[in-house]
Amino acid sequence: MSEKKQRKELCRDHFLEEYFEMDEEDTLLPQDHLYEAPIPAEVAYRIISDELLDEGSARMNLSTFCTTEMDPEGTRLMAQTLEKNAIDKSEYPQTAAIEQRCVNILANLWHIPQNETFLGTSTVGSSEACMLGGMAMKFRWRNNAKAHGLDVNARRPNLVISSGYQVCWEKFCVYWDIEMRTVPMDAAHLSLNLDTVMDKVDEYTIGIVGIMGITYTGKYDDLAGLDAKVEDYNAAHPDFPVYIHVDGASGGFFAPFVDPGFSWDFRLKNVVSINTSGHKYGLVYPGVGWVIWRNEACLPDELIFRVSYLGGELPTMAINFSRSASQIIGQYYNFVRFGFNGYQAIQKRTRRVAMTLSRALADTGLFDMINDGSNLPIVCWTFKKDARVKWNLYDLADRVRMHGWQVPAYPLPKNMDQIIIQRIVVRADLSRELGELLIRDITTAIDELNHAHILTEGFTDTSSNGAYGFTH
Ligand SMILES: Cc1ncc(COP(=O)(O)O)c(C=O)c1O
Repeated sequence: MSEKKQRKELCRDHFLEEYFEMDEEDTLLPQDHLYEAPIPAEVAYRIISDELLDEGSARMNLSTFCTTEMDPEGTRLMAQTLEKNAIDKSEYPQTAAIEQRCVNILANLWHIPQNETFLGTSTVGSSEACMLGGMAMKFRWRNNAKAHGLDVNARRPNLVISSGYQVCWEKFCVYWDIEMRTVPMDAAHLSLNLDTVMDKVDEYTIGIVGIMGITYTGKYDDLAGLDAKVEDYNAAHPDFPVYIHVDGASGGFFAPFVDPGFSWDFRLKNVVSINTSGHKYGLVYPGVGWVIWRNEACLPDELIFRVSYLGGELPTMAINFSRSASQIIGQYYNFVRFGFNGYQAIQKRTRRVAMTLSRALADTGLFDMINDGSNLPIVCWTFKKDARVKWNLYDLADRVRMHGWQVPAYPLPKNMDQIIIQRIVVRADLSRELGELLIRDITTAIDELNHAHILTEGFTDTSSNGAYGFTH
């Protein structure tokens, strides 16, 4: 017996079989084509989990809004339901019922009036949900425009949104051949500018998108103010009314718990649809989103497909067909587990952590806080005009990365892109204690940068775009 085989036998005997003790251990597995032979499951597991090691800890990735920690029980339930296909409504009727319960819970959380016949669906995330919201607005606009004799082919329809939009809206406009009319943000308007928004609207406008939590800064658009403007516009243009879709990717799961009295949802008459990401402040692992329409008039029938369900029919309107139902189950688990008060307690704590971090950063004396975490728990800052330092926010991001944290720096959107900001997305799993460690690491990094000597010329400008960035 070869020495290697003997060693293997010995290990086996002692229940100590090592990983990588396979004949191929000295061979690098091919990456771009299949290896011929199967390998033991535990070796495959080890190879791949090792390969992912250098990505660090997802919980220390403070650039993502997506959930990075769930209860073990919720995770177990999701693992247990991975094999269920959410689209197979008749095969998994209870899962379909659970999805419908989630839709109902969200519609009620967003104050759907009692007399409305709302509809909704789960999606892969907010991107798919926004796509559906946009499509519904386009179809509704076209039906109405035709009915009122407008030549729908004379011009491209348009969508009005603040320039702080998330990229999914740009995709929507490209895919559906819509002109995107952006309302520029400026220093005085870091969310939708209500003074100019209605100047962009005409009979070819399919709708206005209000954002509950601008991705860049965490600021909310003033939805109540927008609703009032839209109300006036519609009174003056009864044949070509416009409506509002709320992109509540983050805020849709945050505002109802933290600011229950704040009207941004179906309480506003002209809000016809709302999307949110279950995998952001809905506290489920990625990929689940939701979209809800106020009533059937807001979701033209052409967009509803019917699948068989328990001998009857169930409407589906999602773009995607097959996907695991586990995220839907995970969402329902959170609803059952936390209830309103649990979600509220979690979100309020998250906000307190954000505001504490914000105060600590302001105390350095170097930064102007753009968002202090008091609406969405997003902390973002830029340098004070008179900050006298020889490093920029990209350097700080790099330095903090050495401690394991990812705190990205990036430019604001077009026409404000000379302003570089840095952002921390505070999530439920960033505890007060972890927050203290983060502040310690940021202040240490600042101290290190202040005492560093090498600085390449041209890299001392705090407003520099640097050589790399972070896109939304
Ligand atoms: C405002 C906004 N809309 C849409 C999206 C896209 O969401 P998802 O990642 O769930 O597709 C995001 C993601 O950050 C967002 O912040």
